[in-house]
Amino acid sequence: MPVNLSGRSFLKLLDFTPEEINYLIDLSQDFKNLKRTGTPHRYLEGKNIVLLFQKTSTRTRCSFEVAGMDLGMGVTYLDPGSSQMGKKESIEDTGRVLGRFYDGIEFRGFKQADVEELAAVSGVPVWNGLTDEFHPTQMIADMLTVKENFPQGIKGLKFVFFGDLRNNMGNSLMVVCSKLGLNFVGCGPKALMPEQSLIDTCQEIAKETGATITFTDDPKEAAKDADVLYTDIWLSMGEPDELWAKRIEELSPFRVTKELMALAHKDAIFMHCLPSFHDTNTTIGEDIAKKFGITEMEVEDEVFESKQSRVFDEAENRMHSIKAVMYATLR
Ligand code: CP
Ligand code: NVA
Repeated sequence: MPVNLSGRSFLKLLDFTPEEINYLIDLSQDFKNLKRTGTPHRYLEGKNIVLLFQKTSTRTRCSFEVAGMDLGMGVTYLDPGSSQMGKKESIEDTGRVLGRFYDGIEFRGFKQADVEELAAVSGVPVWNGLTDEFHPTQMIADMLTVKENFPQGIKGLKFVFFGDLRNNMGNSLMVVCSKLGLNFVGCGPKALMPEQSLIDTCQEIAKETGATITFTDDPKEAAKDADVLYTDIWLSMGEPDELWAKRIEELSPFRVTKELMALAHKDAIFMHCLPSFHDTNTTIGEDIAKKFGITEMEVEDEVFESKQSRVFDEAENRMHSIKAVMYATLR
């Protein structure tokens, strides 16, 4: 049966079948080809979208804006301080108003329940641009990046995520690997494991798709023969700065180093959703260096800048994949 996502919201990958996820990845590749060849694709002319951000962003905001404009749509951006939402107006009322104006709503915020509520009340497709729990548009871009690098097929690849396993990225990567049949290894401290109920759900999905889901706190064992080594920042948006000391202590053993890369397959790639603390060229990076004496956090600068690093391809793919998600749900 052909895939039809028209009118659907995109809130978390658990709501989508492997066939639907693969369709979105392939559509992202099609849009990438159109962009690269300069072929116009104003397929959604006359529509309007609004982007609601409770947290900051570079890639996600710019992807939605450029993708929306490339598709011919009008785009409104509302930053964390410039709407009534939250302080004077509930998420529910905001959704009911914006659904009258716009054909689609992007939301980046804290609670997954908020994006789910927007989708329930607005009457238009809602896209999750990141919550504390999930980052689903990032997953389409990431799997497109993996497919580009392993054109022979991604099922059965050893995909290792190092670090904070219970943040939005750890959760989402575990879900997408289980859906698409990759062998997910979560490598981090026991204190930062995902919710057991989410692990159980992914294990069930994995039985159907041939994926495996395993965890270890031994970085060398995790890196051995890996195809993809992935990491994320150690303190996510919304978490208090006071946690830095604890996280640095807990997560330093899980930094992606050149020694770990050397244990992986020779054609293994390094991935990161970005932004990344791989040097001290940021105010936080500089501050951490002064306070804790470390100049790189979740990944060594040498790995970040290496030939195996795909982080900027991955960032570019955000735009193509967000375009695919919007087109598929608004067409
Ligand atoms: N990867 C990602 O979501 O980046 P931004 O926070 O810049 O949107
Ligand atoms: N875990 C990170 C991802 C940023 C794209 C955060 O939530 O800040």
